[in-house]
Amino acid sequence: MNDGDGTRAARGQERRFGPLGTALVIIPTYNEAENIKTIVGRVRKAVPEAHVLVADDNSPDGTGKLADELATEDAQVHVLHRTGKEGLGAAYLAGFRWGLERDYGVLVEMDADGSHQPEELPRLLTALKGADLVLGSRWVPGGRVVNWPRSREFISRGGSLYSRLALDLPLRDITGGYRAFRRETLQGLGLDEVASQGYCFQVDLARRAVKAGYHVVEVPITFVERELGDSKMSRDILVEALWRVTAWGVGERVTRITGRGDKSPG
Ligand code: GDD
Ligand code: MN
Repeated sequence: MNDGDGTRAARGQERRFGPLGTALVIIPTYNEAENIKTIVGRVRKAVPEAHVLVADDNSPDGTGKLADELATEDAQVHVLHRTGKEGLGAAYLAGFRWGLERDYGVLVEMDADGSHQPEELPRLLTALKGADLVLGSRWVPGGRVVNWPRSREFISRGGSLYSRLALDLPLRDITGGYRAFRRETLQGLGLDEVASQGYCFQVDLARRAVKAGYHVVEVPITFVERELGDSKMSRDILVEALWRVTAWGVGERVTRITGRGDKSPG
């Protein structure tokens, strides 16, 4: 939630939020061999009490093996090996399940490529003390993007704007992937019904959180484009996002018009 929205912010402040438990930083990976050691090291240094879970989709470049080496050396690093590339959404769902089965109080989403700076995580966690969900945001005052091509910035800003309008969400960065959830928030989102595979998974969770009435706070971040390895963004990921967001938007309008409490398409 933007600070500009007084009523919502006030409602959040009236609520009492429980203490934050131990954080689990979930890092999904597919071919991040050049990045994995650096990012895990940065997280461990920036937030020493947090644990890390690498959710690797059997990367052909051996990322999973490098993560195993880190886990052997460090009891706070864990690895979830998945059988093949099933998309960012599926990797996060498996990671969340892993964390919720254990007693982590906070679950964090973070990319492996350095775009989400671990050094900014303490700020997200501080904000989570008074929120149910914190979004690291590129598109609120103070947020920015470093080294992104114009085309990519256009897609991201456009995606957030379209999602904001189609789904009537009071959020600025709806597709971002640097987030901190309280465990109770995740438990209230109906994760078993989430079908989103690609990056629209992020829109899906943001939408579910707002509709469920959770207090969502956006914190400005500096997103730094990766220097090593390749983005996994693809045409298929864009197409999935476009059709799903459109279907959710249409579904919500139909429900509003017919007055029926139908579930929006998962
Ligand atoms: N396990 C797994 N499986 N990990 C994946 C998969 C997959 O199928 N696809 C991508 N990842 C991992 C990458 O290895 C990386 O750690 C992270 O997910 C983000 O992937 P990138 O390919 O670096 O994403 P991006 O930089 O193009 O996109 C960024 O912007 C998107 C749109 O705003 C990220 O911040 C996304 O989270 C965000 O949705
Ligand atoms: Mn990236």
